[in-house]
Amino acid sequence: MITGNYPNLRLRRNRKQDWARRLVQENTLSPNDFILPVFLIDGSNKKEPIKSMPDVYRYSINRLSQIVDKALNSKIPMVALFPKTKTTQKNVNGDEALSNKNLVCKAIVEIKKRYKNQIGIMCDVALDPYTSHGHDGLIKNNEIINDETIEVLIKQSLLQAEMGCDVLAPSDMMDGRIGKIRKALDGNNHKNVQILSYAAKYASSFYGPFRDAVGSKGSLKGDKKTYQMDFRNSDEAIREIALDIKEGADMVMVKPGMPYLDIIKSIKDKFKIPVFAYQVSGEYSLLSNAIQKKIISRDAIFESLIAFKRAGANAIVSYYADRLDKIIK
Ligand code: PBG
Repeated sequence: MITGNYPNLRLRRNRKQDWARRLVQENTLSPNDFILPVFLIDGSNKKEPIKSMPDVYRYSINRLSQIVDKALNSKIPMVALFPKTKTTQKNVNGDEALSNKNLVCKAIVEIKKRYKNQIGIMCDVALDPYTSHGHDGLIKNNEIINDETIEVLIKQSLLQAEMGCDVLAPSDMMDGRIGKIRKALDGNNHKNVQILSYAAKYASSFYGPFRDAVGSKGSLKGDKKTYQMDFRNSDEAIREIALDIKEGADMVMVKPGMPYLDIIKSIKDKFKIPVFAYQVSGEYSLLSNAIQKKIISRDAIFESLIAFKRAGANAIVSYYADRLDKIIK
């Protein structure tokens, strides 16, 4: 592949000036590459800081426009909604997930009313923001029960679709849920609602700050290793993705992001399907804390985001997405 040798060949020639470097750039970032996560809280007039995530806030429904306006103005295609449910509204079965008055439903209605179809809305399908034990599914005899959980996830999906959600994102990792949810959507007049499957989601320590943000941290009993993937594995990610595509996923997600670039790359090489990366809360907080302490420079943010594009991701879920004007120069 390499023709020629030093001194005829000097790779530094293409780097000699800024314009020369720009000419041979292989990857770039645009606002189209981003999904902005938005945390919701009840009450009114709230913009509440999250201790473990610098510069990220929870918004009450009447303050939601503050953050959605930002996303819209910088032309980000979609926001992802995450609720911090009141402890008193959580129970073992996560019943609040099926209330049409829950935070996510209220936010969908509000955003659709105000912005129509100018911006997409993505919602997690999973029970963890609503269960008293913090797990994504129902529990019976200390086991997260797969098929019974799917029945609830179908109801949650239909409810969110009914409210106006554009993209359902099952993040629960139950077996077989994509096919069942797709079938239920199609059978209930929601054939255009897309499914973004968190198909390769690892049982990761990098979700810590998120669990703090949605208030499931203290309550989580045990870990999620019986449903989320073992981070030692990569062949298994291919099987997960292949299955979800077969079951009808329109797009697939790899999560966390930066420690899993190899997975993004191999999935993109193998399946020609939109692949998204989630730069999760722990990655965000690590970077942000190091920047705050001036251990590394702010340019590290751009570098971390470009890495996803280089690996083959089509879009990135990132808590930095509301500050892109400062990041993409
Ligand atoms: C819930 C869910 C989690 C994240 C997104 N959806 C946490 C978990 O599975 O425990 C993590 C996102 C982040 O860390 O930024 N199913």
